[in-house]
Amino acid sequence: MRGLRVLMAGLILLSPLAANEALPGGDGIGDVFFPQLGNGGYDAQRYHLQLTWDAEANSLAGTVTLEAEASQNLSAFNLDFQGFEISAIRVNGQPAAFRRSGRELTIQPAAPLLADEIFSTAVTYSGVPGEGVPGYYDIFARGWTRYAGGVYVASEPDGAALWYPVNDHPLDKAAYTFEITVPEPFVVAANGLLTATRADGGSITYIWRTDYPLASYLATVNIGDFVTQTLDGPDGLPIRSYFPADIAETAAITFGKTADMIAFFADRFGPYPFEAYGVVVADTRLGFALETQTLSLFGRDAALGRSRSENIVAHELAHQWFGNSVTPAQWQDIWLNEGFATYAAALWLEHTRGRRALDEYMAGIYLPLANPILVAGQFSPPGSPSPDDLFNGGVYLRGAWTLHALRLKIGDEAFFETLRAYHDRYRYGNAATGDFIAVAEAISGVDLADFFDDWLYAETVPAVPEMGLKPPRT
Ligand code: ARG
Ligand code: ZN
Repeated sequence: MRGLRVLMAGLILLSPLAANEALPGGDGIGDVFFPQLGNGGYDAQRYHLQLTWDAEANSLAGTVTLEAEASQNLSAFNLDFQGFEISAIRVNGQPAAFRRSGRELTIQPAAPLLADEIFSTAVTYSGVPGEGVPGYYDIFARGWTRYAGGVYVASEPDGAALWYPVNDHPLDKAAYTFEITVPEPFVVAANGLLTATRADGGSITYIWRTDYPLASYLATVNIGDFVTQTLDGPDGLPIRSYFPADIAETAAITFGKTADMIAFFADRFGPYPFEAYGVVVADTRLGFALETQTLSLFGRDAALGRSRSENIVAHELAHQWFGNSVTPAQWQDIWLNEGFATYAAALWLEHTRGRRALDEYMAGIYLPLANPILVAGQFSPPGSPSPDDLFNGGVYLRGAWTLHALRLKIGDEAFFETLRAYHDRYRYGNAATGDFIAVAEAISGVDLADFFDDWLYAETVPAVPEMGLKPPRT
């Protein structure tokens, strides 16, 4: 985005007339799969969500304020936001005109904004999340979600706009302040650090804040009857977790290796990138987990320690490096999240159970990839999932295999150096598949173009002669 700004400054010098011209920002940020996601013309700096939750109605009311920097002269600009009743929008304190169409909220400030200007936009709204949104109940990642015991927020990839107005694409990360008011005795857990609580006549306001760049799909607010567990992680890293009271002891065991896992991943990938870690367990059967930044979200099912729980615990933690700190520039690069987290969990297995356990695990996940007859059409090549099936098993399993095959090809030393260098270079920002390949080539000195083409894009999974694995001839 900075590059764009430099380019535009040059254009303005060439044609002085254009200097005064203010144009609307784009209604999409340029995602190949989802052209309408995000918006152009500005760069979000900080969101301040000041929201009061009514537990009976599951309604939200309040004001979300976005501080952003204009990247061009703006006559109007868009936010992504769907549902709710908007009662007022102010830009730099002045009432602004607005119109809505589907997810697009177009705001026209009283006077145009100037390139490089920092401006604030305050959107005051209320309503029940999802109410009146077409297809809402079919959406997997629906943002603010009520369950009997409280609320969780899971938005990957595009659910954030279903609960607050946002530039809803991972390319525009920002800092956040959450100021959430709930009836007592509910507890609120969100990203970052709890900086204050304020009780007021039966209500309580929790203020959470993070100064690290946070992608919108990783923002989370959780409300429940939680007990809090705090532990010291490596180098004094605070680990704060929120468990349903009745399963707190079991959950503490399920997540009991978190500090060791952080130390292990920090050794392999580089220092843990954020101010805190921990998990929140929603008291409901989620059927998935999500790596919400600094506070991974799990359901009661996963917390009870059934089936593969250690694998999932490691997986969501590893996303803090790969996914959250280094975030895909495009949704089609999702294997940079899921392949990495899946392989990271396998590395934890190797660390705790030995190389043989890793080999067996990798051979086990190769099997379905290599047998299209068993699972015809179910697994896409990791680099090209379909937009409506981003979380295809091929993204996870063959994505993880791509990394393991790379390790076999360039050796442990170059491989782990590649992971560290890739995280170090792109942390707090975004990367594309080509960026990872470039780092691997620079460090290994090997031309890896064909290797990655075969692993990421070819229809058939490549053979792995080192391990005697090959797809059956069809
Ligand atoms: N990133 C999540 C994970 O850790 C994905 C959760 C599933 N999401 C989905 N849309 N199926 O794997
Ligand atoms: Zn994942």
